[in-house]
Amino acid sequence: MKSILTSALLASTAFSSVVPRAGQKVDYDGFKALRVTLPEGSENLKTQIEDLVAHVLNPGKKELDVVVAPKDIAALKALVIESKVINEDVGAALKEEGEFKAYAVPSESWFTAYHPYADHLQFLRDLQAGYTSNSAIFTLGNSVQGRTLTGIQIWGAGGRGSRPAVIIHGNVHAREWITSMTTEYFAWQLLTKYASDANVKAIVDKFDFYITPIVNPDGFVYTQTNDRLWRKNRQTVSGNTCVGRDINRNWPYKWEVTGGASTNPCSETYKGVAPGDAPENRALSAQVNTLRDSRGIRLYLDIHSYGQYILWPYGYNCNLRPENNAQHQTLAQRAQAAIRAVSGTAYTIGPSCSTLYATTGSSTDYTDVTGNATYSYTYELRDTGTYGFTLPANQIQPTVRETWAGVLSMFKDA
Ligand SMILES: *[C@@H]1O[C@H](CO)[C@@H](O)[C@H](O)[C@H]1NC(C)=O
Ligand SMILES: [Zn+2]
Repeated sequence: MKSILTSALLASTAFSSVVPRAGQKVDYDGFKALRVTLPEGSENLKTQIEDLVAHVLNPGKKELDVVVAPKDIAALKALVIESKVINEDVGAALKEEGEFKAYAVPSESWFTAYHPYADHLQFLRDLQAGYTSNSAIFTLGNSVQGRTLTGIQIWGAGGRGSRPAVIIHGNVHAREWITSMTTEYFAWQLLTKYASDANVKAIVDKFDFYITPIVNPDGFVYTQTNDRLWRKNRQTVSGNTCVGRDINRNWPYKWEVTGGASTNPCSETYKGVAPGDAPENRALSAQVNTLRDSRGIRLYLDIHSYGQYILWPYGYNCNLRPENNAQHQTLAQRAQAAIRAVSGTAYTIGPSCSTLYATTGSSTDYTDVTGNATYSYTYELRDTGTYGFTLPANQIQPTVRETWAGVLSMFKDA
């Protein structure tokens, strides 16, 4: 039995700037989330907006969701042609996320609250300890600050490493807390239902699962210590004071193509200096390459939030489709229907560039082409902007359950 008591997550400070002082957390009280429409052909304007706001929540979209300090709202409104409030008080929404709870050995109650990083690692270790004959903890290398990327491998009747791989990554973007909860729920379901649920048994016997719930641990910790809305890793850039590469713009495939990432180190989508120059990214691409060369990759899932999308390649070109585009679409349609059947939650599906926005150096383009994965998908979980990344704790269980129905459908079909 293990229990860690943690301090309240959301202790607020009387400090409001987006760059926290050492040891202080950004206080978002009174900040608003706005959805703004930019005039046509406004690349320069995007940079101005990025400088003005605290965070761009959905960099790349035509309508930007931004979090802005009260003092900057008027200046922002002057730059855009339309703006709509999607959250009146981001600080108040953060409080609805709930407080960290003491951690006890794995049970469903894990999925009723958010947790500190150390507890996530303990959850994986404790879950694995209950199923030693068909699971193992693995590591994929280290983050910038030396944290180990840690995951759980799950296999069935064929024995360890005998089946095509299913690779699942969570929390690549630090602020997307619902995604580590959701990927952990997949592992939880696969292991706890194996003996009692014939559908789950069939799937676990068919694949080797490699689930890494938090592939950006430094960023994740930073969202808990300094800035809840941080996205990137915590890598410094020579000659620049801005921090962080976007790990999902750093994969070494079509990294050099323009228009789907930023070359500005201060941007939310900074691509880095060279393809694959983020250590987290090197660890992840090495995993993909190793599994490609051993048993092959059947399915790759990169779990993000928010927006309620299921997307597949390609990100770097809006006109290209994978050769099995029709199968990608069929699996996605069935997952979309499975999610809707659980909760009514509506997902939009499609090739990522043409459906959402252009991305270069993204995970699913890499796994599709370089990784030779049969299927590659990005999920964008709940919601569509009301809470955005700070989904209240009472939405964790509904979200993980509906998403499980979607991925279970994909596991059956893949
Ligand atoms: C790619 O995967 C397919 C199975 O989906 C396999 O038949 C083929 O040999 C693989 N190609 C390479 C280059 O690994
Ligand atoms: Zn993301």
